[in-house]
Amino acid sequence: MKTVLTGIKPTGKIHLGNYIGAIKPALQLATNPDYQPVYFVADYHGLTKTQNANELRELSMGVAASWLALGLDPEKVIFYRQSDIPEIFELSWILACFSPKGLMNRAHAYKALVDQNKLADKEPDDGVNMGIFTYPILMAADILMFQSNLVPVGKDQIQHVEIARDIAEHFNKNYGETFTLPEFIVEEETAVLPGLDGRKMSKSYNNTIPLFENEDSLYKLIKKIKTDSTPPNEPKDPNDSIIFSLYNEFATPDQVQRMREEYANGIGWGDAKKELFSVMNAFLEGPREKYNELMAAPNQLNEILMAGAEKARKKSVPFMKEIRKKIGLNNM
Ligand code: ADP
Ligand code: TRP
Repeated sequence: MKTVLTGIKPTGKIHLGNYIGAIKPALQLATNPDYQPVYFVADYHGLTKTQNANELRELSMGVAASWLALGLDPEKVIFYRQSDIPEIFELSWILACFSPKGLMNRAHAYKALVDQNKLADKEPDDGVNMGIFTYPILMAADILMFQSNLVPVGKDQIQHVEIARDIAEHFNKNYGETFTLPEFIVEEETAVLPGLDGRKMSKSYNNTIPLFENEDSLYKLIKKIKTDSTPPNEPKDPNDSIIFSLYNEFATPDQVQRMREEYANGIGWGDAKKELFSVMNAFLEGPREKYNELMAAPNQLNEILMAGAEKARKKSVPFMKEIRKKIGLNNM
């Protein structure tokens, strides 16, 4: 049995790109009986950015509700909130003692901030908190605590999984085989979903379509998608159309084929957007209702997360005990 682990940090509302690129493939992996899926809300990672209590709480609940609304079965998956597993933090400190500082200096997210500061003629570490600097160590603790074999991530996170592997090797060399060495999985075929402006859909670009907007806002957002000035009745290239890329993710193969023909026949952009709204809304209707129900019942959501934390701690508590013993802490 292989453990597949991944987390999403609550730094914004879950959008279509997160669903297509992260949640959908993770839900598919969860149907494989050879895998034990471990999925969590990385709320302590979110704290490096979201530093308003109500906002962090709301966003964390939103990430949890999204997974459940999209079909995650908490009975089959170990599903929890990172901050409910104190052993992760204990491990994080221990791993910090095995993490060369130079390795952190080279981590992308930190390096990008330093480069930005240098360009802006600021102090290199301006606006950098220690949470951002040690982010990869906490992520290594997330991964190593559950002896993860596979970690599905987006391309930007590959380096973090490699850092976790490095730290694990370093520890194993010193104390003997302890941690499973994780491997990342990147879904190469999964399209990078474009946002309203055609760039990658991302919270950072403010160009997202949040998954659980109500119908009216969803349609309004779809109407905002950038199109070129090809007039109605003129043939359009589906391979060069954000609307078509999005349509492709939600329509049946037959519908996609028909839409291809409509592009060749010169469908107007307004009509193409209407069709897109119709397939997207049909897919999202059910999950949206479930999401709203869960968000309106925070106690119920909390219970699901606490039950998940209990399952996770059945693994983390004894493992942490073993680790403490190995490194020579007083633990008879
Ligand atoms: P954002 O770019 O909005 O901040 P994150 O970096 O938090 O999103 O990404 C969370 C997960 O969603 C990652 O696994 C990432 O690869 C995936 N993801 C984000 N945006 C897209 C997109 N436009 N297309 C496909 N996958 C995406
Ligand atoms: N850093 C990841 C991201 O930004 C989120 C994350 C935290 C994660 N811990 C993890 C992903 C462990 C995979 C495994 O998307």
